[in-house]
Amino acid sequence: MIQLKSLSEIKTIAVAGAGTMGAGIAQVCVQSGYDVWLYDVAETALQKGLLIIEKNLSVAVEKGKLNEEEKQKSLSKIKTTSSITDLKCDVLIEAVLEKLNVKQDLFRKVIEVNGNDCILATNTSSIPITKIAEGISNPERIVGMHFFNPPHLMKLVEVVSGKETSVTVAQLIFDLSKKLGKNSVMAKDRPGFIVNRIGKLFHTEPIKILEEEIADVETIDALMEASGFKMGPFKLIDLIGVDANLNVTKSLYELMRQEEKFKPSDTQQKMVDEGKLGKKSGEGFYKYNK
Ligand SMILES: NC(=O)c1ccc[n+]([C@@H]2O[C@H](COP(=O)([O-])OP(=O)(O)OC[C@H]3O[C@@H](n4cnc5c(N)ncnc54)[C@H](O)[C@@H]3O)[C@@H](O)[C@H]2O)c1
Repeated sequence: MIQLKSLSEIKTIAVAGAGTMGAGIAQVCVQSGYDVWLYDVAETALQKGLLIIEKNLSVAVEKGKLNEEEKQKSLSKIKTTSSITDLKCDVLIEAVLEKLNVKQDLFRKVIEVNGNDCILATNTSSIPITKIAEGISNPERIVGMHFFNPPHLMKLVEVVSGKETSVTVAQLIFDLSKKLGKNSVMAKDRPGFIVNRIGKLFHTEPIKILEEEIADVETIDALMEASGFKMGPFKLIDLIGVDANLNVTKSLYELMRQEEKFKPSDTQQKMVDEGKLGKKSGEGFYKYNK
């Protein structure tokens, strides 16, 4: 059995993966007063992640949402590491590649470091929590904690219980998400949870419209924005990462038994093969200044 801590006993959070999501999640945690280990296998990702956090906090200072002292205090609470043995923590939030074996390997290693006391939360967009928990000791401590991009601005967190997740663990992560300033919802461990099940069609259908040459990228985005969406689908895919978005589409397509409407597009695959990964690589559906 795991020794569950109460919310007030949670002091240190480790965030694994310093990419698009991990950096933002780490920022949210330090801004809520937690000590954070930001871990990545790539040293360059750690440096880039820290730069993004610094930039986000500076923007908050410019907007008067934060003062310089609070910014420095937040920055002082983050430690970066590429050594997994440093990850002594009460809660681990993983935001590494959307690959089952990578997430499971990480969890096994983090258990070696922390024993039974650490809660393992996954930011997976599409892999069933039950599947990730298979073969991991004390699977009741594994829970989905699905943030949205960009995590420091988007308010929603889906808290997802797999077959083995304990009700207490899910509630603790629900309460932690609230403490991080998020509006959390409990979601079932079904393909795409709630938001991505709907959102995938918002990504795949516009690409079909583009392929059928009905309208171009700018027009489709402008129309969707004019119809009330905050961001057009192509801007959103570029922000998410063309590769990350494609991985989720592929995964959901399989989980939905290859239902035609969820089929990933060849256009998107070609872009990934060419390194057009969106904002992070400087080019996706749009071009960006790096
Ligand atoms: N991008 C989004 O909009 C979004 C939204 C919600 C959830 N997610 C999910 O969050 C996770 C991360 O997505 P992302 O877009 O931040 O990816 P990303 O490619 O931007 O970042 C992933 C990071 O993980 C690191 N990494 C890879 N293997 C690792 C390992 N074994 N240990 C430690 N670090 C490792 C990589 O070096 C990279 O820096 C995925 O599961 C994805 O499905 C993404």
